[in-house]
Amino acid sequence: MRHFLTLKEYSKEEILEILNLGLEIKAEVKAKTFVPRLVNQTLAMIFEKSSTRTRVSFEVGMYQLGGHALFLSNRDIHLGRGEPLKDTARVISSMCDMVMIRTYEHSKLEEFASYSKVPVINGLSDSYHPVQLLADYMTMMECGKDINPIVAYIGDGNNMAHSWLMLASKLGFELRVATPKGYECDPIVIADAMRFAEESGAKITITNDPKVAAKGATVVTTDTWISMGQEEEKTQRLLAFQGYIVDDALMGLAAENAIFLHCLPAYRDVEVSESVLEGAQSLIFEEAENRLHAQKGLMVWLDKHR
Ligand code: CP
Ligand code: NVA
Repeated sequence: MRHFLTLKEYSKEEILEILNLGLEIKAEVKAKTFVPRLVNQTLAMIFEKSSTRTRVSFEVGMYQLGGHALFLSNRDIHLGRGEPLKDTARVISSMCDMVMIRTYEHSKLEEFASYSKVPVINGLSDSYHPVQLLADYMTMMECGKDINPIVAYIGDGNNMAHSWLMLASKLGFELRVATPKGYECDPIVIADAMRFAEESGAKITITNDPKVAAKGATVVTTDTWISMGQEEEKTQRLLAFQGYIVDDALMGLAAENAIFLHCLPAYRDVEVSESVLEGAQSLIFEEAENRLHAQKGLMVWLDKHR
């Protein structure tokens, strides 16, 4: 049985297998020849943080696959009142076929998984957001941007930056991460990525200069400067990130036909200008829709590997 907590535990072949399965299922849905693959299965979805895309895509995805999803906010279940995670894990995994968790500390996901009898999926932790990267790469595959891409991630060294580091270093493509001083990625994650890059041939550049990252990039991406749980740091973060907005000037440094991605929610004219977000190079809504298709591929893949 496999869990899906980070891309660290996955090989290039496995990541591509999940994505190709997702694309196959997407084509079936569009052709209305869809075959439900997880009939009568249940997915428990535990949310300790807000969500629009993750909740809707997993719930709709499980329904379309022939199963059922349960939305469990920590305000409703006893986890939020102090019932131990290890008890919650054993109870829920004795009744459900799969579990998705959105939480704060990544260690909580690991603890839950260690007590779970069924596959556990990371629906975002403070450290990683791997299901988002499945959708992002699927979007790149669909428009041919998976061929020798140069990805520029500009912004906070957060869960999204960490997940890009894992994806690039596993798949072997070029990634430049530009963050302000003091907001760099976790050195342990960078070290892991560098180690994987040696095997895969990925080229990883870590810089504090957004222009260095953007120059000639074929994919430009960013994320909010204030992640969930960091609301109190808003004032100091807005100051520290000055000059990191992805606007027309920065996009102008990228390759002519570069695409723009953002996991959303986006804050207009903060980390990205309205013009880039709504512009012709932006594929943000294709990317958001792909959450549904990529995660269906993931759930079917996890079911096959138990
Ligand atoms: N991108 C993403 O995970 O969105 P939500 O927070 O809306 O789930
Ligand atoms: N970095 C953001 C991603 C939201 C999908 C956060 O953790 O809030």
